[in-house]
Amino acid sequence: MSFLRVDDLYKIFGPRPESVLERARAGQRRSDIQADTGHVVAVSGVTFAVEAGEFFVIMGLSGSGKSTIIRMINRLVEPTSGRISLDDVEITALDKPELRRLRQQRISMVFQHFALFPHRTVGENVAYGLAVQGVEEAERTRRTREALELVGLDGWADSYPDELSGGMKQRVGLARGLATEADVLLMDEPFSALDPLIRREMQDLLLRLQRELHRTIVFITHDLNEAMRLGDRIAMLKDGQIVQIGTGPEILRNPANEYVSSFVADVDRSRVLTAGEAMRRPRRTFSPTDSPQEVLDWLADQEFNGAYVLDEHGRILGVARDDRLAQGIARGDRDISDLLIDDYAGVTRDTPLAELAGYAALNSVPIAVVDDRGVLEGVVPRARLLAALSAKEVRVDA
Ligand SMILES: Nc1ncnc2c1ncn2[C@@H]1O[C@H](COP(=O)(O)OP(=O)(O)OP(=O)(O)O)[C@@H](O)[C@H]1O
Ligand SMILES: [Mg+2]
Repeated sequence: MSFLRVDDLYKIFGPRPESVLERARAGQRRSDIQADTGHVVAVSGVTFAVEAGEFFVIMGLSGSGKSTIIRMINRLVEPTSGRISLDDVEITALDKPELRRLRQQRISMVFQHFALFPHRTVGENVAYGLAVQGVEEAERTRRTREALELVGLDGWADSYPDELSGGMKQRVGLARGLATEADVLLMDEPFSALDPLIRREMQDLLLRLQRELHRTIVFITHDLNEAMRLGDRIAMLKDGQIVQIGTGPEILRNPANEYVSSFVADVDRSRVLTAGEAMRRPRRTFSPTDSPQEVLDWLADQEFNGAYVLDEHGRILGVARDDRLAQGIARGDRDISDLLIDDYAGVTRDTPLAELAGYAALNSVPIAVVDDRGVLEGVVPRARLLAALSAKEVRVDA
């Protein structure tokens, strides 16, 4: 069972939302409903489930309903219809006091324009949420210090917000979200107002934190590159409806419709596609007991310059390269065990293709994709890498 579940959620703005619910359910266009009735169908039949510890991104253009969805999750906006549950709690059934507890303890929210209290110090701003939760002072101080440390603002606790840059203020917002130790972090375009360099820094920071903290995150953005960088999965939203949910590579490879394709065209695919997706099985590998003549003959036949040599567990021992093999034959070596060299690059499956470009230099063998024990899982030939990076359509399955 998923951790956070959103089922068939609707939000209609206007004087009599229920009166147009049937039309929205029947799939009538948002613009038609608005023209006829003056009601705005902000969110229409949205269903998704987020696993504990997952980084889930909702991506869509301005007005597509992103903020409305995220605000319904903690019921800052009341759904017109549908069900939201967290773990074993049905959020849509909670009364006011229960809801307050949920917001204080289990769900915290970070906004785009994070409102800091100007007359309180950075530390007091971070501690605020904890005070509301009724956390006692010593504990508050400790968690505040930890959260500020996490976001790289140790030493700033006694400063005031107007002494901070935009990026630093946003870090305070993040620290406040983290300090509450809530299970779920709702983040509504937290980095959109930042300039690109700082924004990237904040993305890196958040990814690093998430690797340690494993919070469940629902993150909103209108930037598909940001979505692809951050999200374990992405929901693509259009006019209040989800048009596709998938991992970044899935969406890149298989956009559900024209609308998604038009976004995908702008994505830096080299940062989304990974070595694991571009790799293929090596044509052949050798063992250290093979003879230099046999290996060299095979290389000559294939028009290759080198081959991987593996131990009995499939781990890479080294590379047998043509020139060394020839030397070995000349001096009468029986096997290739003394001829192996380290002339190769090894990466793990999840390495983005962008990072492979630097390795693809001029080794005699393709890039090796290895697991954490050094077992060869596949190879990425240079031409294949370049093809994957340059393709209009992403075809790494060939
Ligand atoms: N309180 C409201 N009353 C009436 N209409 C609203 C209200 N809040 C949002 N809307 C409308 O609902 C639709 C979805 O708005 P929402 O703010 O969720 O979009 P968004 O995807 O977050 O956009 P942005 O990227 O600009 O933040 C829009 O058409 C918006 O005008
Ligand atoms: Mg919004």
